[in-house]
Amino acid sequence: MSRRAFLLATGAVAGSAVLSACGSKGGGTAAPSGEVEVFSWWTEGAENAGLQALLADFKLNQPNVSFVNRAVAGGAGANAKAELARRLDANDPPDSFQGHAGAELSDYIAAGKLENLNDLYAEQKWADLFPKEVLPLIRSGGDYYSVPVNIHRANMLWSNPKVLKSVGADPAPKTFTAFLAGLQQVKRAGGRVPLVVADAWTLKHLLETVLLSSLGPQGWTALWAKGADWSSPRVRQALEGFHEVLTFTNASSAASSWDEASTLVGSGKAAYQIMGDWAEGSFKLTQNLQPGTDYAWAPVPGTAGTFQFLSDSFTLPKGAKHRDAALAWLKECGSKSGQLGFNGAKGSIPTLTDLDTEDRALFGEYLQWSMDEWKRCRIVGSLTHGVVANNAWNAAIDGALETFVKNRQVAPFQQALAAAARQHAA
Ligand code: GAL
Repeated sequence: MSRRAFLLATGAVAGSAVLSACGSKGGGTAAPSGEVEVFSWWTEGAENAGLQALLADFKLNQPNVSFVNRAVAGGAGANAKAELARRLDANDPPDSFQGHAGAELSDYIAAGKLENLNDLYAEQKWADLFPKEVLPLIRSGGDYYSVPVNIHRANMLWSNPKVLKSVGADPAPKTFTAFLAGLQQVKRAGGRVPLVVADAWTLKHLLETVLLSSLGPQGWTALWAKGADWSSPRVRQALEGFHEVLTFTNASSAASSWDEASTLVGSGKAAYQIMGDWAEGSFKLTQNLQPGTDYAWAPVPGTAGTFQFLSDSFTLPKGAKHRDAALAWLKECGSKSGQLGFNGAKGSIPTLTDLDTEDRALFGEYLQWSMDEWKRCRIVGSLTHGVVANNAWNAAIDGALETFVKNRQVAPFQQALAAAARQHAA
């Protein structure tokens, strides 16, 4: 066990965070008490394990605060966000809630729902510690509005190497065409789902990675600017690719979840899954599988060199009933001890950029690779997970996609996507 792992296991790293948390002048008292009600959508498997790891460190640092877990399951946040909207409308906010850095967070800022966290940022020197790619996405008018606890990668292809070997398919196809060939090989062999999907958002996640693959990072990013050309032949071609890839999937069902889909890959009932790297947490922690031999990963074909990212961040709503405890929670989200425990379990990488070799050694093979990828790749944002488009634009795309999945007509799908862009691009 490394020195740092030992310190973590014994709570000594968390103990040092207690020291640094003392003497706070971030708008809270030095030692808050009472409760803190925190809202997220992390209820199961590795997502819950990540939250619990963060919580364990928080309890060491803030023994007098009782954590009220208001996680709402499912839909990559769809259910949680609906419940959150209801509470914000009723002026009954939780003390802190999960919101993706980027356009999703901007919605809450624009609606005047959040307090800025400038004092906490100054006190913790986070502007020097969080990545320059993430800071503009949690800032508005020079003010900081949330604490990013992780970085996830959306454009990942997961697979079962044993299944692929048995049918002669490639776990890391370089191009989309090579990927289609692999899917065809699994299909021909029979008995397995070539590319597994689950509830509706997993299709949008698939769509965004296919668009990135087909349009490239520049073309993808251009889609989210005002006046973007969604009617172009290039977008048409990308949507045709999506159409084709869907012929290799199982039927999407509201009753199934991304982690059940990962279990199908792990057990060999499905061959490939395109999913964010929270799937690593499922393979490794929930299914107890060995990286490399039991499950494999590669960037979505055609997207190597691009890191399509998202970042879970936590906020301080105006009118939070336990403001001091909420500030202590936010400090925890940005602390090194909190981020090390949380991200290792969750399957994401920390936002803190001051990790040393021992910190890095706490992470498994995939996450260490992901840390290197984050540094060397071109960074673009995710659609499904709130970076490039806000909740309303996402909802319009959801509607267009739902219709397309039923009728499989590319031309009207493209028109609906173009109309959504005209209406929502800011
Ligand atoms: C994303 C979230 C991830 C993960 C995923 C699946 O939106 O950012 O942390 O939880 O949903 O639920």
